[in-house]
Amino acid sequence: MPMEPASRLPMPEAANAAGLEGASMRGLASRWYIDPAAARVEHERLFAGEWVAIGAASDLANPGALLPVDVNGVPLLALRDESGAVHVFHNVCSHRGLKLVEGPCNVRGVLRCPYHSWSYALDGRLRATPSIGGPGVHRVEGFDKDRHGLKPVRSAVWFDQIFVNIDGRARPFEDLVGPLQARWRAFDPGAFLHGTSDSYLRFEVECNWKLAVENYCEAYHLPYVHPGLNSYSRLEDHDNLVEPDRYAGQITRVYNPILAEDGSSLPSHPGLDDYWRHGAEYVALFPNLLLGLHRDHFFAIRLEPQGGGRTVEHLHFYYLGEGAAGERFAPLRATNARIWRQVFAEDVGVVEAMQRGRRSPAFDGGLFSPVMDTANHCFHRWAAARLG
Ligand code: FES
Ligand SMILES: [Fe+2]
Repeated sequence: MPMEPASRLPMPEAANAAGLEGASMRGLASRWYIDPAAARVEHERLFAGEWVAIGAASDLANPGALLPVDVNGVPLLALRDESGAVHVFHNVCSHRGLKLVEGPCNVRGVLRCPYHSWSYALDGRLRATPSIGGPGVHRVEGFDKDRHGLKPVRSAVWFDQIFVNIDGRARPFEDLVGPLQARWRAFDPGAFLHGTSDSYLRFEVECNWKLAVENYCEAYHLPYVHPGLNSYSRLEDHDNLVEPDRYAGQITRVYNPILAEDGSSLPSHPGLDDYWRHGAEYVALFPNLLLGLHRDHFFAIRLEPQGGGRTVEHLHFYYLGEGAAGERFAPLRATNARIWRQVFAEDVGVVEAMQRGRRSPAFDGGLFSPVMDTANHCFHRWAAARLG
């Protein structure tokens, strides 16, 4: 099934150079990167009001596994129930508001609050309220346990990533990912398995999370910031990928890294056409998930904002079949992780310098190239539509 080419979309206002000067061609104002008050608005509209990625489902290895996550200070709790399903709840006890779980852990059957020992089933139901009616009296007239379980959060799992919509008002998840799912229909998301312990990288970057998105979306900087990568996947091998209001990024027509001197390679996904045998795609699914899809591996980078000027990036690698955990593929996984670590480390200097640049009174949004920055323009339009 041939893949339609990525579009080199002209921006509506930017068919010519004059468009560069138009008001709609300016980027988001600097306050959206440096002002704590702006970060609070952003949390409500771009995080609580949308589908945000909070973690990898494979980190919930067994039934009863619990994973606490904070989204801009909102404490959430992802867990795997006895049937294997993933649920997300607000991480707070219904009684006196204790944050229930502070670190990843496993429970058997119930989650017990350490304060007064109220306990919850893994489906969120409040199961026991010891001594609520006095010593040894575990019921009280008029108190309906069914109304006071853990408060559920809308959630979905896709390509092993757990998404939540905190305010419950975002569009259906299928609507958000539908176009990308269709674009990536040649791949079975379930075929990608999380690699072993060599398949997680963490970066701490002194920049607003949006700069990490913006830098990921464009290939423009490739020859200047990534000379190594540019030696086998050149700027002219890339094109923009834009799906308004959902995602943006880039494709490369040349994906062919050499992972081993002896020519061995990681297992590839079956049934791919020429497009996917030779190319790869990199998209930012708004707001906070950066994805990379290749014939032999997939990665997801979750951006975790830490205040307006700092971001933690969590990078998980996924491989196919024996490639995910097989000992004989360990050197190839390690090389792959090393190559990507190098690429992403090269980006740190420029995103941190863009953050510092946003303190300048001479900059307030900047300019977009009508050809090279279309993906970033798409991201800014998505944000601006919500921020007003
Ligand atoms: S706060 Fe949890 S049982 Fe009291
Ligand atoms: Fe880069």
